[in-house]
Amino acid sequence: MTKTQQVRLAQRPTGLTDADTWDVTTEELPELGDGQILVKVAFISLDPAMRGWLNDVRSYVPPVGLGEVMRSLDIATVVETNHPDFAVGDTVSGLFGVTEYAISDGRGVQQVDLAVAPGPTWLGALGMPGMTAYFGLLEVGKLKAGETVVVSAAAGAVGSVVGQIAKAKGATVIGIAGGAQKCRLLTEELGFDAAIDYRDEDVLRRLRELAPKGIDIYFDNVGGEILDAALANLRRGARIVLCGAISAYNADTLPPGPSRYMSLLVHRASMTGFVVFDYADRYGEAVADIAKWLSEGKIKSREHVVEGGVARFGETLNLLFSGGNTGKLVLAL
Ligand SMILES: NC(=O)c1ccc[n+]([C@@H]2O[C@H](COP(=O)([O-])OP(=O)(O)OC[C@H]3O[C@@H](n4cnc5c(N)ncnc54)[C@H](OP(=O)(O)O)[C@@H]3O)[C@@H](O)[C@H]2O)c1
Repeated sequence: MTKTQQVRLAQRPTGLTDADTWDVTTEELPELGDGQILVKVAFISLDPAMRGWLNDVRSYVPPVGLGEVMRSLDIATVVETNHPDFAVGDTVSGLFGVTEYAISDGRGVQQVDLAVAPGPTWLGALGMPGMTAYFGLLEVGKLKAGETVVVSAAAGAVGSVVGQIAKAKGATVIGIAGGAQKCRLLTEELGFDAAIDYRDEDVLRRLRELAPKGIDIYFDNVGGEILDAALANLRRGARIVLCGAISAYNADTLPPGPSRYMSLLVHRASMTGFVVFDYADRYGEAVADIAKWLSEGKIKSREHVVEGGVARFGETLNLLFSGGNTGKLVLAL
């Protein structure tokens, strides 16, 4: 019998999650059945979308139920197997949840090649955030060389890859991030042409200065006032890629809508929402390209790894909403 500590949803939060949101429980897992694997979780992905999964509303996935183990994508090692496709010692990724050990029937579980990159990178640039950046920018945004791309939450998991792919494809790239340190990272280490510190600068005015002909693609990770500032600076035919709106994920009431949306009409522009899972059958394409760019040094992968047990999940998750993470936020067990 294997004992596992895990984090369950105790109550639905209003605003930021806190200790009352979660129950940390220890339980024994049942014996392994036919066609099942037992995995030991090594790395847990922390994602802004997790906050949305706690709300009892209709979305692109069902909410996490009260009392259920919190949903998460993990990198894990197979420690016992009754499944023909998996051997003991395999490294895999799957939706095992915030838990030390899990039993799975292998559905949705992928093999992970640690010779290509370490575990946390498979949750970052080579994982869901990298896929989001790749398909959001190239398929939804339809980036062309020579265009001007602006991305918000630019020092985060998705944003940092968006900016670097755009640079690799010949765009001029402006990142928007919170704080001087993150802005320096963008321009000095990740190759962005310019960075705007939204905590300290007037974003609308700075975008006008830095992109005098207007923005071709705004990759929106945050919504709110920053989206409005981008709308005020569009170029004819601009595309807004609606990836996320983290500024509102903990809001109790809906924020006012974008006030400058008529700019879409004036500039014959479009704003398109997308969910990365729609590109699942093409992830292999993106992984091949991003792995190549990583090996060539065209893209640098950044992970923010917090060490600790599953009990640290709640406090670590909130780093995403205070801007406490730089790059992909991962909990290492
Ligand atoms: N559509 C999809 O399929 C899909 C898939 C994955 C992710 N997403 C979305 O992509 C976005 C980025 O996700 P990620 O995993 O890469 O997270 P991340 O950028 O690594 O972390 C979140 C960052 O958001 C910024 N932030 C937090 N509160 C903010 C606020 N009120 N205003 C402005 N910025 C704020 C913080 O950076 P600063 O310090 O710079 O503020 C924080 O570090 C999220 O909106 C997420 O929901 C969408």
